[in-house]
Amino acid sequence: MKKILITGGAGFIGSHVVRRFVNTYPDYQIVNLDKLTYAGNLANLRDVENKPNYQFIKGDIVDAGFVDSLFDKEKFDAVIHLAAESHVDRSISSPIDFVMTNVVGTVNLLNAARKLWKEEYSSKRFYHVSTDEVYGTLGETGMFTEETAYDPHSPYSASKASSDHFVRAYFDTYGMDTVISNCSNNYGSHHFPEKLIPLAINNIKNNQPVPVYGKGENVRDWLWVEDHARAIDVIFHKAAPGTTFNIGGHNEWKNIDLIHLLCKIMDRKLGREQGTSAKLITYVTDRAGHDLRYAIDSGKLQKELGWVPSLQFEEGLEKTVDWYLNNEDWLNDVTSGNYQAYYEGQYANR
Ligand code: NAD
Ligand code: DAU
Repeated sequence: MKKILITGGAGFIGSHVVRRFVNTYPDYQIVNLDKLTYAGNLANLRDVENKPNYQFIKGDIVDAGFVDSLFDKEKFDAVIHLAAESHVDRSISSPIDFVMTNVVGTVNLLNAARKLWKEEYSSKRFYHVSTDEVYGTLGETGMFTEETAYDPHSPYSASKASSDHFVRAYFDTYGMDTVISNCSNNYGSHHFPEKLIPLAINNIKNNQPVPVYGKGENVRDWLWVEDHARAIDVIFHKAAPGTTFNIGGHNEWKNIDLIHLLCKIMDRKLGREQGTSAKLITYVTDRAGHDLRYAIDSGKLQKELGWVPSLQFEEGLEKTVDWYLNNEDWLNDVTSGNYQAYYEGQYANR
């Protein structure tokens, strides 16, 4: 029986990782530690919450005393660390929250693991889930590899880069068994509607303007969230200590092209005349420091560990739209209250 701590398990990607591990590994005890910020939602885990190998603990990774005593009590064998402040726009308005959770929170977890494991790392592992944004931005060509130098531009990516460096420092300095993965943009169910795809789905559904930053020419590489969860599973079990893997969908889209595709799908699903939803597209002031293009070379993961993405983007986007249209209660719950205040602040003067 292995006891695995998954942090941020009530969030978008974390909930898919928790579901996968709870269902695939009945002999693992999965402990989900989450502060339940605006982005954390226990409704994301209704289908696994009563499983005998699953436990939820509410807590803040920034609180070092709490984290230490939790490790002392629970004696985790491994950590899969996803808890983070994850939205670039929020990092521009409040960078310090990102420093606290993403940097200080990560170091608190590393320290607690080091104290518990007493530098005997055989059969222990600290897996840190990171982002391709640490590599900065690409021009028209090229791809990020694991050797690309870090060059973060937003407070979010700077905080994630910093946390990655700390994780590597614990491998180099203390010999802790660490692994890191850097993934491209995820999409799928349970994605908080502050991010482009769920925000656009929600706005199209409600006949609200769809805000496109700048000229919509920025490029992102989109990966089905369940393919990310499967990659994390493979890397967690098979990667050598101290290694890093890039994860991506080989699926680059200009924002404006993606939004047009989404509008077409939504018109069809909602029984609207083709072209109706596209009229909602509204160009707004660009994001400060907006990275032009991300593209991930996941060749190392494919060759060494045999992972490949499973889903074509059009199919994944259809499934995603279906999930949002069939889960109106979830969407209504997360878009009420604080979300309204955030939305007004974020888009009022753009
Ligand atoms: P999310 O914002 O949906 O979820 C983050 C979770 O962390 C929430 O449940 C939140 O309550 C929890 N959390 C936040 N602060 C906490 C704290 N101080 N203590 C405990 N829990 C806290 O994020 P996501 O999109 O699921 O991203 C998960 C991880 O994957 C992050 O580390 C992110 O950097 C990384 N990542 C995300 C993407 C993406 O496209 N979303 C891509 C690559 C990497
Ligand atoms: O690349 C991985 C990263 O992807 C993760 O590390 C982050 O946690 C995740 O939030 C995501 O970051 P992005 O900034 O790329 O995602 P977002 O959905 O916020 O924006 C996607 C693109 O769409 C980006 O170029 C900005 C643009 N955009 C976004 C919003 C919210 C718009 O044009 N309009 C919008 O309203």
